[in-house]
Amino acid sequence: MLQQLEDNSVDAVITDPPYCSGGQTANARAQTPSSKYEQSGNKIVHRPDFASDTMDQRSWMHWCALWINDCQRILKPGGYFLMFTDWWKMPTASDALQMGGLIWCGVVAWNKGLGARAPHKGYFRHQCEYIVWDTNGKCPKAKHARPCPGCFDFPVKQKDKFHLTGKSTPLMEELVQIVPGRSVILDSFAGSGTTCVAAKKHNRQYIGVEKTKVYYDVAEKRIKDSV
Ligand SMILES: C[S@@+](CC[C@H](N)C(=O)[O-])C[C@H]1O[C@@H](n2cnc3c(N)ncnc32)[C@H](O)[C@@H]1O
Repeated sequence: MLQQLEDNSVDAVITDPPYCSGGQTANARAQTPSSKYEQSGNKIVHRPDFASDTMDQRSWMHWCALWINDCQRILKPGGYFLMFTDWWKMPTASDALQMGGLIWCGVVAWNKGLGARAPHKGYFRHQCEYIVWDTNGKCPKAKHARPCPGCFDFPVKQKDKFHLTGKSTPLMEELVQIVPGRSVILDSFAGSGTTCVAAKKHNRQYIGVEKTKVYYDVAEKRIKDSV
């Protein structure tokens, strides 16, 4: 799909690829997304599995570098690239961003709160996900924008979660405002369409790409229902 998009045609890529994480052993990471990401205390709603989540570190990095390189071509000069990752994939994600031809500018933390993980004594809780980001070339002067914080606190709410690894809609609403109204935002791994819903709500244009049919349908309905 990315190959069909024109050069210099989008203002921001805001995306959340499969992390291929979920464990410290090869066997653990190779399990289905639902076994990896659905916590036992969290089985309120069963959410379907999704594509491309069982790559090993190097194949994941190579794959990311390929699609990021497409994004670099599609982004306008100065366009924003924001990619979600977790602590485990952080070093690989920042390497892949650079291999894809972008220049790594920094990391934003999303604090999901104490409810995000069970407490462990003597072990720091993995309650954050991260966004590695870049502007495609020189960072533009953002006349429209508010000062952007480097950390967001948004707890995960089950009624706002439409995907096994769905992002918080209020968080995505903050992120899409990095570009001015009417800008075009691309989410190349749209899942349940949270980026598109946030973009629509804030009067940004959006392109969402999703491979897993069941989530494509969820995204389509959410976008249609959102105002
Ligand atoms: C981490 S999830 C995105 C969740 C999304 N942020 C949300 O809030 O619902 C990643 C998504 O990428 C999709 N995906 C995996 N490989 C893909 C590919 N090659 N092209 C498009 N989508 C893909 C998966 O099916 C999955 O739904």
